[in-house]
Formats: sequence, structure tokens, C-alpha cells
Amino acid sequence: MNPASLSPPESVDFCGACHRTSLDTTEMRLSGVLNIRFPAYRLQASRCWGSAGDPRLTCMACHNPHVPLVTTSTSYDKNCLGCHVSPAASKPSPDHPGKACPIAQKECTGCHMPKYEIKEMHADFTDHKIAIHRLGEPFTE
Ligand code: HEC
Ligand code: HEC
Ligand code: HEC
Ligand code: HEC
Repeated sequence: MNPASLSPPESVDFCGACHRTSLDTTEMRLSGVLNIRFPAYRLQASRCWGSAGDPRLTCMACHNPHVPLVTTSTSYDKNCLGCHVSPAASKPSPDHPGKACPIAQKECTGCHMPKYEIKEMHADFTDHKIAIHRLGEPFTE
């Protein structure tokens, strides 16, 4: 089986087979910050995903499963700017449907995909629900 041929929802569920799908999260009735460990459900809750699913926003839009996790925030800018226009005054277009950020032109994930610590696990996880997060804001469903 070649996972490259999967549709976006199937592709995200494919990674979710181990990282947990949206359905798993609903069936387990989990809520709160513990859900941050389930990137598929968080990603699908972000407005970038959209109701119909944007074929470019699978896990592979940002991760190459054949190399170790990239941890420099600026390396993800090109992934955001694959869909979002920049600088601030730019207007969205058919191949770049995402609006421009009025605040910054780089290090997008630092503000829009914040990390939260799960105390019980002594580790930080990244919120895959891409959104406008206010500084110090508690975790939102
Ligand atoms: C067969 C189960 C399984 C599948 C399917 C799977 N993963 Fe994972 N993934 C894991 C496990 C287990 C870890 C934690 C490994 C560790 O910490 O050593 C992990 C870790 C990761 C990490 C973090 C690596 C790091 O260095 O912290 C990323 C990113 C990731 N997976 C992305 C994906 C993507 C994208 C897909 C779909 C293409 C996927 N995974 C499918 C089991 C899976
Ligand atoms: C829009 C970009 C983007 C997409 C799409 C994306 N990720 Fe991530 N992911 C990131 C960033 C940024 C990090 C944090 C990297 C770091 O540690 O600095 C991350 C971290 C992770 C980690 C490590 C644990 C953590 O929470 O920090 C795992 C596992 C992971 N992603 C899995 C996935 C899976 C599975 C999908 C698809 C459901 C996915 N990601 C989609 C950007 C993305
Ligand atoms: C596959 C295309 C795509 C990618 C990749 C993408 N976005 Fe989006 N994003 C969109 C679209 C389309 C919208 C507009 C949805 C709407 O107007 O409802 C959006 C909406 C947003 C919003 C507004 C959210 C809200 O709650 O109002 C922010 C912030 C955002 N994106 C930031 C990012 C960041 C940061 C990245 C990279 C980590 C990123 N996006 C990656 C397509 C994308
Ligand atoms: C320093 C933090 C920060 C960084 C870095 C940042 N943003 Fe933003 N972004 C914000 C804030 C705060 C808002 C909300 C502004 C408001 O509503 O007044 C926002 C709004 C947005 C919006 C919604 C715009 C709208 O008109 O609805 C998008 C899309 C977005 N950012 C994308 C990005 C992208 C893409 C990057 C990287 C190129 C990025 N942001 C970098 C803080 C940041």
C-alpha cells in the first residue's frame, strides 16, 4: 500500500492509526489539555483544515516521516507560506487562500501553534490546532 495516494482525511487518519484520529478522541470522551497529544484531531479542528479538507494540509505538509522531527520554528514558515500570503497588505489568491498575518512575517508556529506542558508527563506538546492564541491563554478545545 502506498500512503501517498490517500485522500487528505484518509492520510491524516493513517498517521492517526497510532497518533489517534478525531473519531478515537470522540469515542474516548477525552477533553482538556491531555488531547494535545493527538495531533490529527487538533489539526482537523483548525480553520486551516476547512470543512471540505484542503488537500495540502495533511501531516506531510509539515513533517517528512523519513527524517527526524525538525525543531527550529523558522523551518515551518515555508509550510505556512505555502497557503498564506505575506506581508500584511497582501491579498489571498486561489493558490494561496490563507490571509496575511497583521503581526509578523516569520516564526509562525511560535505564536499560532504554542506548546503546552502536560504536568503528569513532564513534557511539552505542540498544539496542532492552528489558531490565534492570546498570550497565557488556557488550552481551548
Ligand atoms: C505504527 C504507529 C505509527 C504510525 C502509523 C505513525 N507514527 Fe509517528 N510516532 C509513532 C511513535 C510510537 C512515536 C514516538 C517515537 C519516539 O518517541 O521514539 C512517533 C513519533 C512521531 C513524531 C515525533 C518524532 C520526534 O522526534 O519527536 C512525528 C513528527 C510523527 N511521529 C509523525 C508521524 C506522521 C506524519 C505519520 C503518518 C505519515 C506517523 N507519525 C505515523 C508511531 C507511529
Ligand atoms: C502546519 C504544520 C504542521 C502540521 C500540518 C503537522 N504538524 Fe506536527 N508539528 C509541527 C510543529 C511546528 C511541531 C513542533 C516542532 C518542535 O518541537 O519545535 C510538531 C510536532 C509534532 C510531534 C511531536 C510532539 C509534539 O506535540 O510536539 C508529533 C508527534 C507530530 N507533530 C505529529 C503530527 C501528525 C501526526 C500530524 C498530522 C495529523 C502533524 N503533526 C501535522 C507542525 C505541524
Ligand atoms: C493547506 C493550506 C494551509 C496551510 C498549510 C496553513 N494554513 Fe492557515 N489557513 C488556511 C486557510 C484557507 C485559512 C482560512 C480559513 C477561513 O477563512 O475560515 C486559514 C486560517 C488561518 C488562521 C486564522 C485562524 C482563526 O481562528 O481565525 C491562522 C492564524 C492561520 N491560518 C495560521 C497558519 C499558520 C501559522 C500556518 C503554519 C503553521 C498555517 N496557517 C498553515 C490554509 C492553510
Ligand atoms: C508574535 C506572534 C505572531 C507571529 C510570529 C505570527 N503571528 Fe499571525 N497573528 C498573531 C496575532 C496576535 C494575530 C491576531 C491579530 C488580531 O486579531 O489583531 C494574528 C493573526 C493571523 C492571521 C489571521 C489574519 C486575519 O485577517 O484574520 C493569520 C492568517 C496569521 N496570523 C498567520 C500567520 C503566519 C502565516 C505567520 C508566519 C509568517 C504568523 N501569523 C506569525 C500573532 C503572530
